[in-house]
Amino acid sequence: MNIIVTGASRGIGYDVVLEFSKSRDNRIIAIARDYDKLIELQKKCFENYQNKIEIVKFDITTDLIHNNELLNVLKEIETVDIFINNAGILINKKFEDLSQEDWSLTFATNVFGPIKLIKLIYPKLKNSGFAHIVNISSIGGLERSKKFSGLSAYSASKAALINLTECMAEEFLEDNIFCNCLSLGAINTQMFKEAFPSYNAEISSAEISKFICDFSKNYRKFFNGKVIPIAVSTP
Ligand SMILES: NC(=O)c1ccc[n+]([C@@H]2O[C@H](COP(=O)([O-])OP(=O)(O)OC[C@H]3O[C@@H](n4cnc5c(N)ncnc54)[C@H](OP(=O)(O)O)[C@@H]3O)[C@@H](O)[C@H]2O)c1
Repeated sequence: MNIIVTGASRGIGYDVVLEFSKSRDNRIIAIARDYDKLIELQKKCFENYQNKIEIVKFDITTDLIHNNELLNVLKEIETVDIFINNAGILINKKFEDLSQEDWSLTFATNVFGPIKLIKLIYPKLKNSGFAHIVNISSIGGLERSKKFSGLSAYSASKAALINLTECMAEEFLEDNIFCNCLSLGAINTQMFKEAFPSYNAEISSAEISKFICDFSKNYRKFFNGKVIPIAVSTP
């Protein structure tokens, strides 16, 4: 299977790539900006599981046309079977302190980045005949969930990703592309610690990654356009 994972340099994306790399049938493209961390991940996948993953240094907020590295890697594959839209940022500031740049960066990363990438790889998702896009959103993006001070830009962007999932699922079905959204609660990563410094998240990124890999590989048959909340605590 050909699999693309964004936000693979740390946290959940890093562990999702490690988990997928356990099967040598999986050809994995791991994307993030921090190239040193991607090299570390590449080495780990090879040493632990003899899987030679491909890594691409890429900022998903930038123009795709100028990233030859990404385009070259994509040229080598006919299909994309699983696309994990995981890269994201969280700017923890009160509404009054959020600048226009904060809003733009948040939406450029959490909404427009995924849109650009899906558009770019759409023909390859179509070629798969049974592709699965899994968008990683947040409980904060869900209607009527408990909201937290400082997270308005983040939560609004994650709500957009949720709505987009439902729209894309409807439209992409004619091409056999399934699209679902996992709305995560507290997972013990750097992002969570920055958002909630005084809380401890009970779920590790390795644990949730196992679930994400299993869901994206085995559950596309049963879900389309679904937004699945995954949380055992608030936050
Ligand atoms: N942790 C939680 O409790 C929690 C809860 C709900 C939802 N989520 C969602 O789960 C996803 C992963 O979160 P995490 O906790 O693992 O966060 P994290 O540790 O902060 O990792 C975020 C990843 O996104 C990448 N990224 C950020 N901006 C990027 C850009 N412009 N271009 C390419 N890559 C970019 C980062 O890599 P580089 O810096 O190297 O680019 C990093 O690999 C996010 O979408 C987050 O919103 C997390």
